[in-house]
Amino acid sequence: MRETKDIFYWIAPELAVLEKTLCEALASPVPLIAEMGMHLVRSGGKRLRPALYLLAAKSCEGFDEKKALPLAAAIELIHMASLVHDDVIDHASTRRGAATANAKWGNQIAVLAGDHIFAQAFLLVSGKGYTEAVGDRMASLVQGLCAGEILQDSSLYTAEHDLEEYERRIAMKTADFLATCCELGGIVGGASPEVCEGLKAYGKAVGMAFQITDDLLDVTGDEERIGKPAGNDIRQGVVTLPFIRALETSPDREELCRIVTNQDMSDEMVARAIEIVRASDGIDVARARAEAYIAEAGRVLPEAVGGEAREAFLRAAAYIGKRDF
Ligand code: FPP
Ligand code: MG
Repeated sequence: MRETKDIFYWIAPELAVLEKTLCEALASPVPLIAEMGMHLVRSGGKRLRPALYLLAAKSCEGFDEKKALPLAAAIELIHMASLVHDDVIDHASTRRGAATANAKWGNQIAVLAGDHIFAQAFLLVSGKGYTEAVGDRMASLVQGLCAGEILQDSSLYTAEHDLEEYERRIAMKTADFLATCCELGGIVGGASPEVCEGLKAYGKAVGMAFQITDDLLDVTGDEERIGKPAGNDIRQGVVTLPFIRALETSPDREELCRIVTNQDMSDEMVARAIEIVRASDGIDVARARAEAYIAEAGRVLPEAVGGEAREAFLRAAAYIGKRDF
C-alpha cells in the first residue's frame, strides 16, 4: 500500500508543515475540544484535498508557502468537519479504523465539535490576504457539500437511478470539492484564469474517479482494509454505480431491487446484495468508468503545468484510480 506522502513526495515539506498547522488549529483551552481535535488529527486521513491544493499552488510561478498554507489547513478542516457531521447523520461507529466522534462522545458533542472545526477553518484564513475569489470558492464548496448530502438523502432506499443521476450526486458530494481545491491552488499561486480552469477540470476528473473507486471498495473491500464496514453504503440506502448497473443487468435484479429498497436490511440481505453485484458486470463497469476519468484528468491538465509538477499530478491521478484502501 502506498501512502499519500509517497505519492505526493514533491510537496512533502509542505505536507509536514500542514500536520503541524492542523495540530495547532485544533488545540483549545477547553480540554474536551482539544481531546476531540487530537483524536481526529491522529486518526489519520489521506490529506488528499490539501495535497491537491498544494500541488496546484506549487505548480504556479507565484507560489509562496507561507501564504498558501493556512488555506491548505482550512481545506482539511472543512473536510474533517463534514465527516464528523456525516458520521452523525449515518450513525457510523468507525472511520479510518478508529471510533467516530459520535461513537466516543455522542451526537450532541459531535455536532458541536464539527461546527467548532468548521469555524476554525474560516478563522485560519481570515486576515491572511486571500482574495475575494478564495472566500467565494470556500463558501460555494461548503454549500455544494450540503446540497450533495441533501440530494443523496432524497434518493436513499430507491431503485430508480441511472448513471447521470449517480454522477450528479457524486460530483456534488466529492468531485466539486476536489475541483475547487485544484482551482484554489491556481488562484493562490497567481495562475491565469485559463490555467485555473484547467486545474479545476483535472480536480473534477480525479474527484469523480476517487468517489467511484470509494464506492467500488465498499463492494469489493473488507473492513480491515477500508477502515469501515463493507456494504455500508447499501445498508444506509446509498445506491452506487455497481448496484445501479446490477439493477439493470443482473438476472437477480428483482431480488436486488427488493433488498435495496428495504429500510430495515439485515446483515444477510446486505451480504446477498453484495453477492448479486459481485456476480454482475457492475464492478467492471464502475472500474472502467473510474479509469476513463483518470485518463480524462491527464488530458485536461493544463499544458502550462510541466516538469516535476506535471509528473506529480499524473502520479496522483494514477494513485487515485488504483487505490485499494
Ligand atoms: C462522506 O461521504 C461525506 C461527505 C462527502 C460530505 C458530507 C457533508 C456534510 C455532512 C455537510 C457539510 C458540513 C460541514 C460542516 C462542512 P460518504 O458518506 O460517501 O463517505 P463515507 O462512507 O466515508 O461516510
Ligand atoms: Mg457517509
